[in-house]
Amino acid sequence: MQFEIVIMDKISVRRVRELEAVGRSVILQGWVRTRRDSKGGFSFLELNDGSCVPNIQIVADADLPTYETEIKRLSAGCSVTVCGLVKESSGRGQATEVQATEVTVHGWADPQEYPLQKKRHSFEKLREWAHLRPRTNAFGAVARVRNAVSRCIHDFFQKHEFLYVHTPIITASDCEGAGEMFRVTTIDPKKVPTLADGKVDYTCDFFDRPAYLTVSGQLEAEIYATALGKVYTFGPTFRAENSNTSRHLAEFWMVEPEMAFYELNDNMQLAEELLRWLGHALLDQCAEDLQFFCDRVDDQVFTRLQNLVQEKEFARVTYTEAVELLKASGEDFEFPVSWGSDLQAEHERYLTERKFNAPVILYDYPDTIKPFYMKANDDNRTVRAMDVLVPAVGEIIGGSEREDRLDVLETRMRDQGLNAEDYWWYVDLRRFGTVPHSGFGLGLERMVQFVTGMANIRDVIPFPRTPGSAEF
Ligand code: 4AD
Ligand code: MG
Repeated sequence: MQFEIVIMDKISVRRVRELEAVGRSVILQGWVRTRRDSKGGFSFLELNDGSCVPNIQIVADADLPTYETEIKRLSAGCSVTVCGLVKESSGRGQATEVQATEVTVHGWADPQEYPLQKKRHSFEKLREWAHLRPRTNAFGAVARVRNAVSRCIHDFFQKHEFLYVHTPIITASDCEGAGEMFRVTTIDPKKVPTLADGKVDYTCDFFDRPAYLTVSGQLEAEIYATALGKVYTFGPTFRAENSNTSRHLAEFWMVEPEMAFYELNDNMQLAEELLRWLGHALLDQCAEDLQFFCDRVDDQVFTRLQNLVQEKEFARVTYTEAVELLKASGEDFEFPVSWGSDLQAEHERYLTERKFNAPVILYDYPDTIKPFYMKANDDNRTVRAMDVLVPAVGEIIGGSEREDRLDVLETRMRDQGLNAEDYWWYVDLRRFGTVPHSGFGLGLERMVQFVTGMANIRDVIPFPRTPGSAEF
């Protein structure tokens, strides 16, 4: 069954473009993209309202009362309400057009000043106009795909009986242990209270302790998973890492499922099913926007998604095997590869794009380069970590089986310089009814990059936050 919100006869551009709309009297509201005047005494307006890439053509005859005074002054960016009759169109690439009976202007946009003129602007330039860029075809399409990815993520987990839990944005713990956290404080930087030894007196701060923006909802998700079975959290996360790359943001969205009684292989299976489901759903629901990206941004958009949804299992390779493959590759990498060092983007891209030309799951990483919560293997040097790498993006998912043995967890925390007492509630989960459990995090922006082929992560989130940049 299809539901449409009916407010009088208001209709979206997307719906009015369908042949079924022919014969209806409708009200359209949006922003003019172009105006063309015909010698025959009428004008064509191209109108867009953000519901789809293409515009609807409005035919405005010279006998409309506002024709000379208003319609002939319309230009890109003006906002209008158009009442009219939907007709079949003989124009190319459009099934319908609208014969206007009334055009009301809400807001003018001076063509001398409005930045989005017909000429195509680079994505870099459009970042400076983040308040106007959603009015362009590319950013409208990104917003719709991002919406669809978010909705499909919820659909997937709800279908599989996961509970959506809301984990806090403000936290006192550092989940990833990398110390890359934004501090949350109400202390006046001009009057910092100090203790006798000169250290900051946090008992004077809002939370009576140092507090930060969360880097991950995982630790709190584990609490709910070890009570309710299968849960996921989906929200903004923050990293104060000073990386200026096309794949890093200081504020990004992450979906993090966490499952009791899941071991590493179950975790991999779930990650694979989620990505495949998203691939199917997006091919099905976003075909028109994806075609736009394929034509204008990256001609591999459909190929990548079709490779993803194939039933073939993702390649599963241990970190140790991956290091051997990289060493044997004969590639001239900027960063040398050696067992024990973290893989760089260039290494990940080589594996997923050149070696396998498909998604790859790397697992069993050295314990020294992974956070305290990951379950130790019996070899005493690797942990049950897994990263999913995909072409065009590299790491799209990071996760692990969690350390569920109290003594091993405490040892790992100590080895990483963490105070187990600060994480007493996390440690308690291993004291009372501990269970094997696992989870992972999928970066929403990296998923949108993978789907759309957009090269820079700053262009798949409405208002990117990166080092030195928090405008809008
Ligand atoms: O690998 P990460 O850091 O894993 C975690 O945070 C775990 N606590 C997740 C879990 O097991 N519940 O991040 C997970 C994913 C990455 O694979 C990447 O897709 C994305 O989050 N990500 C970023 N995306 C944009 N900008 C950044 N700075 C990102 N850092 C991680
Ligand atoms: Mg990671």
